[in-house]
Amino acid sequence: MSKSDWQSCYRQMHEALESVFHAHLLALASYRFAEAAQLFCVYHKQLNLHIELEDTLVIPVFKRAEPLKYWPASTFLAEHQKIQKLASSYESKLHHQPGLDLRDHLLALLEEARRLQHLIEHHHLREDRALFPVTAQFVHPREASHLLGESEAKWDSLQREHGSLIADMKATVERHWQRLLT
Ligand SMILES: [Fe+2]
Ligand SMILES: [Fe+2]
Repeated sequence: MSKSDWQSCYRQMHEALESVFHAHLLALASYRFAEAAQLFCVYHKQLNLHIELEDTLVIPVFKRAEPLKYWPASTFLAEHQKIQKLASSYESKLHHQPGLDLRDHLLALLEEARRLQHLIEHHHLREDRALFPVTAQFVHPREASHLLGESEAKWDSLQREHGSLIADMKATVERHWQRLLT
């Protein structure tokens, strides 16, 4: 196994996360609040697992590079906390709209969703440019194999649990958009 295999695995997780978030936004923008909430619920579970895997498997190896003046690991750990806090706050608002005008509610959600998306996009970019390549320099081949095996096992298990729900929700939202666009 090459040392880069686990990096591809993590980059694929980023792509999968972005795809579910995109579907969530499309559901939200077309007033499909039930589907939007379900998609975000799954997205949030995926996001939390992805962060847990990075915190426990990737960052401990990345820390070996700290004496060489790369970015401190605390940067990534703090960003994870910030992302999780914003994601939790956002999810709680998806379910809570007593007395709110639907238009105001939708605009407020879209604004907060954009903030979360922006934060995560920049975070993923930093991981692609610094966290993953630097960790790859300091990981031993046997550790890389363990890193890939454990990451894939946990991620694939969550995907099996929610894969069909994601596919159904995406198809429902797409059918809805097709009706809106014709
Ligand atoms: Fe991360
Ligand atoms: Fe990541």
